[in-house]
Amino acid sequence: MRPFFAAVFFLYPAVPAGAASLPVPLGAESPRLKPFVDPLPIPRRIDCAGLPLEHGMATLHVHERQCRHVFHSGLPAALVWGYDGEIPGPTLELREGQALRVYWHNELPLSPLFPVDSPPSQPGICGRLPAVRTVVHVHGASVPGYAFGGPTRNDDGYPDAWTVPGETQEAVYPNRQEAAGLWYHDHAMGSTARNNYAGLAGMYIIRDAYEDGLHLPRGRYEIPLMLRSRAFNTDGSLAYPGAQTSDEVYGDVTDVNGRVWPYLDVEPGLYRFRFLNASTSRSYALKLVVPGGRTVPGPAFHQIGSDGGFLDRPALLNDPGDPHAPRLILAPAERADVLIDFSGCAGKSYVLDNDSQTDESSDEKPIPDVMLFRVGARLHGDSGAKIPVSLRPIPRLDPARALRTRRIYFQESESPGGAQTMLLNGRRWEDPVTERPALGSVEVWELVNGTGELHSFHIHQMQFQVLGRRAFNRFLYEKFGLVVFQGPWMPPEAGEGGWKDTVRISPGLMTRIILQFGPYTGRFVYHCHMLEHEDMDMMRPFDVVPAAGDNAKAAVFLDKNPEIKVPSPLE
Ligand code: C2O
Ligand code: CU
Repeated sequence: MRPFFAAVFFLYPAVPAGAASLPVPLGAESPRLKPFVDPLPIPRRIDCAGLPLEHGMATLHVHERQCRHVFHSGLPAALVWGYDGEIPGPTLELREGQALRVYWHNELPLSPLFPVDSPPSQPGICGRLPAVRTVVHVHGASVPGYAFGGPTRNDDGYPDAWTVPGETQEAVYPNRQEAAGLWYHDHAMGSTARNNYAGLAGMYIIRDAYEDGLHLPRGRYEIPLMLRSRAFNTDGSLAYPGAQTSDEVYGDVTDVNGRVWPYLDVEPGLYRFRFLNASTSRSYALKLVVPGGRTVPGPAFHQIGSDGGFLDRPALLNDPGDPHAPRLILAPAERADVLIDFSGCAGKSYVLDNDSQTDESSDEKPIPDVMLFRVGARLHGDSGAKIPVSLRPIPRLDPARALRTRRIYFQESESPGGAQTMLLNGRRWEDPVTERPALGSVEVWELVNGTGELHSFHIHQMQFQVLGRRAFNRFLYEKFGLVVFQGPWMPPEAGEGGWKDTVRISPGLMTRIILQFGPYTGRFVYHCHMLEHEDMDMMRPFDVVPAAGDNAKAAVFLDKNPEIKVPSPLE
């Protein structure tokens, strides 16, 4: 071992020994592990263009299986659940407009990987539902809704439409949307956090001709980075506290593509990284630093894309010349497409550092470092890729055209049994649908976070735009339920200017988004993407209904904005 690694290990122990100021975690503390001894794995890639056709459509079979996985060479293999038994699942690569049918086979065992206890908010749920249930959702994909005015299809992965071991979910993905980094993961009602923590997640990349024209780094210069926070028991098994003991599971280490503290050897050239935060609850604020000198910055990040596609121009993050430069912040389920230029860095190493503000009142301990980049001496294949000056024009949705404005309150409530739970607008999952927007209509949603903690908001089918955030008076809110603003509107942050399907909902702020419903009708869901919250009922169904009546305005909107592409639904 080179002395460098020993030094890093000494400086950054896996578990901050005797750190008295840290709250005692509810879960187990992971065993001490050496950082940066295992290479970063790259998930298997499935090019869907090469798949066999069934009834004229590319068709793939994916098997959810229990298997053993090594998260770190210093840990025994852990039992996990993976798509095709892999952690992460295979990366599915598609071209825009190339429809894909997937048979998701549930071949898991009948007994769960972690102890199942009913969330305190849902006493008795275990008695009613099978302990092992799964359903797959492609996050960010535009697909027809669940069982609406037609045959019962489950393309979107409706949470109540789960399969049990031995069953199969058939789903069709039209992929009529622009190039973007999506992902697929489990979404079974009341079991989403556990199933994701067990490993059920993979990437889903859509490419198109516009992307081809940008000449971005490709092949081994384009690297997916799926971050998931974890904790391990001393026998190497995954530690997951039950819902009774924790509202959020933060873990104390991060795995990247299924390896804890990996290193990646890069060449001194331009790279494209597809970041995804697939953690159940943890957020990250990422930058590169010189090992052992947390304050010495590494190369900048040029963010070129967010959840739903490219930005209109690169957003500069982590500018080494500016100590206050914005970092790459990723709440659960957010993605970022990032270029990093390592030319001129030959022979150096950089730690991917996370200094996200952790929540002192909970069991969220800081995880300061994530992985290591080691820059080699020479660039072998120069693709000629450069950082583009401009990317993809983004048509702006105009709030003046919104048919209505809705408010969604993020609330901490008391459940019938007296336990704390997390709800949206005080409603439970099983309460009747309260939002029925018409196809094509535009709405502004005001997301009001009156809880003391961060949430992450996700809506199915649509990509939206962030309009801004504004602080409100917490006292008046708590006392009288009034939203009285204080301070000005704050514009979207760096990297939030493009299409989003997931957005950070910071405490004490109203976050405003604008969205247009479509292109498909049917039943969908919106929810907090902190998966423990989602399982506690911080999720609601909603319907996109066929256009009629007052939706004429929306039709005018579409006529006036022909650049907004509304693909026709699958026949
Ligand atoms: Cu990433 Cu409703 O999910
Ligand atoms: Cu939440």
